Amino acid sequence: MRKRVFSGARPTGRQHLGNYLGAIQNYVKLQDEYDGIYCIVDIHALTSLEDTSKLQENIYELALDWLAAGIDPKKSIIFVQSHVPEVMELHTLLSMVTPLSWLLRVPTFKEKVKIQPQNVNYGLLGYPVLMTADIVLYKAEVVPVGEDQLPHLELAREISRRFNNLFGDTFPEPQARLTAFPLIIGLDGKDKMSKQLDNDIAIALSPEETIERVMTAVTDPARRYRADPGHPEICNVHWLHKNFIQEEEEIHADQCRSATIGCVEHKMLLAQDINRTLKSFRQRRAALATKPEYVTDVLADGARQAQAIARETLGEVKQRMGLI
Ligand code: AMP
Ligand code: TRP
Repeated sequence: MRKRVFSGARPTGRQHLGNYLGAIQNYVKLQDEYDGIYCIVDIHALTSLEDTSKLQENIYELALDWLAAGIDPKKSIIFVQSHVPEVMELHTLLSMVTPLSWLLRVPTFKEKVKIQPQNVNYGLLGYPVLMTADIVLYKAEVVPVGEDQLPHLELAREISRRFNNLFGDTFPEPQARLTAFPLIIGLDGKDKMSKQLDNDIAIALSPEETIERVMTAVTDPARRYRADPGHPEICNVHWLHKNFIQEEEEIHADQCRSATIGCVEHKMLLAQDINRTLKSFRQRRAALATKPEYVTDVLADGARQAQAIARETLGEVKQRMGLI
């Protein structure tokens, strides 16, 4: 049997360049070597969403993004988290072996408390336990994620280790797998690219929208006039561009240093480059969008396959814990 790779993303909106470069490229690559299981984690999204009216639309958009990016339903299972409710049962069982102190020190919990002080809900604290349940329900060994998820993966390993120590060897210890770009900075030039911070570039934008969005990027704050020499090493537009077309960007960086190229021109080059890189993805996405019933079928079929595995693991867990 092939080893399993599992990952998830929250349906909080369309996928952005951070998701694409930090995670999706690995989902696609790894499905050739492992059995892929990719999950649209709608329950996790509820920890941040107060307005859930767009949830179904977001799930559909995320599925389109993934399929167009190359996750292949013939090689991988794609499904929606809440369609396999066994995960919530496992979450409750794992919560009994997770010390509260482990959860209180998770850095992402502390960050969320700062970002959404009006909505510090119980689910937010249990977020990494639910994420552990996601992974171990499928006994996945490899988990492609961006750098921001490393503390969660560390906890997932600790929880599985503790479960194994208490009840006997049941779960493999899941290992994170990063891409070459594990942390993409957003258009503000300082924070992680994120939908919630509104500093993202969605991959499904039109070419015109991409240009408009990239034009809002913060560059070198010391460069106030076109004639000022720039400092590309601290500029996120330069950084993003470098990771699309390596060699030519060094020429643009030199032009920035000598003020022969302005920030607007530099941003235009970046936007054009993003548009070129994502052209075929966008064409595939537009074609898929004409077949919504195909997407629904893929998700229904994915849930069926995932549930068969989930039931088996949950039965084993309950037996080990003395529940049956
Ligand atoms: P999310 O959209 O937060 O559910 O994230 C889905 C996946 O994308 C996770 O593996 C994240 O670690 C990854 N990811 C999200 N934002 C970024 C970013 N700015 N840079 C790199 N990876 C990211
Ligand atoms: N917490 C992840 C994020 O915000 C999403 C996620 C949920 C996940 N369950 C997972 C990622 C399991 C990897 C494995 O991006």
